[in-house]
Amino acid sequence: MPALVLLGAQWGDEGKGKATDLLGGSVDYVVRYQGGNNAGHTVVVGDQKYALHLLPSGILSPGCVPVIGNGVVVDPSVLLSELSGLNERGVDTSKLLISGNAHIITPYNVTVDKVTERFLGKRKIGTTGRGIGPTYADKINRVGIRVQDLYDESILQQKVEAALDVKNQLLTKLYNRRAISADQVVEELLGYAAQIESYVADTTLILNDALDQDKVVLFEGGQGTLLDIDHGTYPFVTSSNPTAGGACTGTGVGPTKISRVIGILKAYTTRVGAGPFPTELFDADGEALRRIGGERGVTTGRDRRCGWFDAVIARYATRVNGLTDFFLTKLDVLTGWEEIPVCVAYEIDGKRVEELPYSQSDFHHAKPVYETLPGWSEDITGAKSFSDLPKNAQNYVKALEEMSGAPISAIGVGPGRDETIQINSFL
Ligand code: GDP
Ligand code: IMO
Ligand code: MG
Repeated sequence: MPALVLLGAQWGDEGKGKATDLLGGSVDYVVRYQGGNNAGHTVVVGDQKYALHLLPSGILSPGCVPVIGNGVVVDPSVLLSELSGLNERGVDTSKLLISGNAHIITPYNVTVDKVTERFLGKRKIGTTGRGIGPTYADKINRVGIRVQDLYDESILQQKVEAALDVKNQLLTKLYNRRAISADQVVEELLGYAAQIESYVADTTLILNDALDQDKVVLFEGGQGTLLDIDHGTYPFVTSSNPTAGGACTGTGVGPTKISRVIGILKAYTTRVGAGPFPTELFDADGEALRRIGGERGVTTGRDRRCGWFDAVIARYATRVNGLTDFFLTKLDVLTGWEEIPVCVAYEIDGKRVEELPYSQSDFHHAKPVYETLPGWSEDITGAKSFSDLPKNAQNYVKALEEMSGAPISAIGVGPGRDETIQINSFL
């Protein structure tokens, strides 16, 4: 019963899409367990480039069943347009399964996301504006709409009315916006019902049965450890649990079934949206990382904030996820620097701190303590094995491994499926 979890070890955009796609050929199911179309995964297959937001990256592997678990929030209009976009490019999407317990991102959740951000002004989170936070808030407040509700019109009507009761008061009286009509929302949602019905299933049962039959299941996280609602840099986080425990609650598969937890780790650090980021660079090096790494958001088109590798964060990701392996990505982007600084600890109010502080105020004051490693200038994109890498690149990887607390089992040297050095097998 090999169940693997693959998740982001930093603030997202570590290359999870590529890593999942790479494994997709050898696994039976790829399951998204949290988040929604706030995710943006770029997957490069041959000369084709795909941008996925909601669908699991396993959708590009013909033998693999892609699954949207109960922990995911689903915008049906985005789902349908992503499916038709893939179908037009010849990708078979018919095997997709969607949990009937997944929550629906309704049009009013998207509106509330946008007006809340505007209202927060300087204190805004910098969300993707896709309705993610308000949909999870409705779920926790027990006024959410689930996929299964699309198939009972009278329940749907009652639930939408209940959800809009308070929201319309807020929208009209606080935010100065027009009220949203429950009837219109119901009509729109019912319009999607038939189009997605064939995908809706009891995914918990299917996945547990599959594991009992020794099938290989890969759980694919959206976002990253530091964007986790519990373990991230709250409040500058997303509203779900990308960390490993989320794979269980977000799919209905118990923790005893999980054998490997793989953290995807970029060879430097990026972040989108607001919030603390100790190693952020505001100089020419930051600009160069952005340019060479192509660090622009897949979902919102925003420039990503860039900085040096932060080993304190990597160690933290190992701890809160119980990581068994790292997949180090984008090592090729660092080619050409004479020296590469790596953050090994923080200085907080004059004291050296080795572990991520739990106090938000301390984290905001954290100054990176750098060690500098020698760089390399040789092109590494063609490297197929560890020994193909220049000595200094090998030493950079070894140093990161030592600081981060789990073995680096694969290294990305380019965006393509085959631009990967596999050191230990994940299966
Ligand atoms: P995700 O959200 O974690 O799936 O990551 P994104 O797709 O948002 O961002 C990662 C970007 O890096 C994508 O454009 C990938 O094609 C690209 N990428 C992934 N791995 C590598 C790598 O090893 N080297 C290079 N140069 N690009 C990579
Ligand atoms: P992938 O899966 C990077 C960030 C947003 C914002 C915060 C909250 O591609 O790694 P939300 O819309 O989720 O309520 O926004 O989280 N964020 C991401 N940053 N990559 C992502 O996904 C992200 N998904 C959300 O920028 O700071
Ligand atoms: Mg991304």
